[in-house]
Amino acid sequence: EKPWTVPMLAQAKRDGRRLVMLTAYDASFARTLDTAGTDLILVGDSLGMVVQGHGSTLPVTVEATAYHVTCVARGLSRALLIADLPFQSDATPERALDAATTLLQAGAAMVKLEGAGHKLEVIRFLVEREIPVCAHLGLTPQSVLRLGGYKVQGRDDAAAEKLRQDARAVAAAGADLLVLECVPSSLAQAVTADLEIPTIGIGAGPHCDGQVLVLHDLLGVNSGHRRPKFVKDFLAQGGSIEGAVRSFAKDVRDGSFPDAQHSYD
Ligand code: KIV
Ligand code: NA
Repeated sequence: EKPWTVPMLAQAKRDGRRLVMLTAYDASFARTLDTAGTDLILVGDSLGMVVQGHGSTLPVTVEATAYHVTCVARGLSRALLIADLPFQSDATPERALDAATTLLQAGAAMVKLEGAGHKLEVIRFLVEREIPVCAHLGLTPQSVLRLGGYKVQGRDDAAAEKLRQDARAVAAAGADLLVLECVPSSLAQAVTADLEIPTIGIGAGPHCDGQVLVLHDLLGVNSGHRRPKFVKDFLAQGGSIEGAVRSFAKDVRDGSFPDAQHSYD
């Protein structure tokens, strides 16, 4: 199959083809995920938690992310590589441009950043400079200090309406993809229907245009944190690492993951 490009993402949504996304941090896993049919690979700032052993994503740097992007890029032949802009590397348009340039030069094809508000200007600034952007709304882990923990977002009507507006705004600012994390299924469904760009859910129910999980969660590798409701151990089901990835990909594509047991309502 053809390698993924950014314009193919919106085409996949128009065609009703669900997108399969996983995180990776090194070349060996990247190759396995790519071979097993993963469409999108994210070098997430979950790096800070599952690889570096921190309690949040805040300590992750651009330099550390770039190193892992170079490693992962060497393992890929078909998947589209996305890299997270670490905490505050996207605080201003200029800082974000520097960080995103470093990550694209390391091998990423797109950068992901959290939030709307003043980040809308950052998204526009990057896209005008030919840098593809994935937005990320709902539970934004870089906001953990102000949120006071990792909780489901958009539960009441006002918060849900705000999230729908933010989603339209990030798309209007030029984002080509939107990750929705830990929001009720009905809200993710509404956002997905509102937008022409694909939504990728994590703890956002079955109605998104694709799904993402952290690799360690997919494999049931415990990082010392409480396992969130949306996490499913696909290694148990798949029998091997490649089997786990194929099993996840199949369940995402045929709509059987996530089920109600792995979603919020
Ligand atoms: O850092 C990460 O792994 C992420 C995904 C969970 C979407 O942002
Ligand atoms: Na992240």
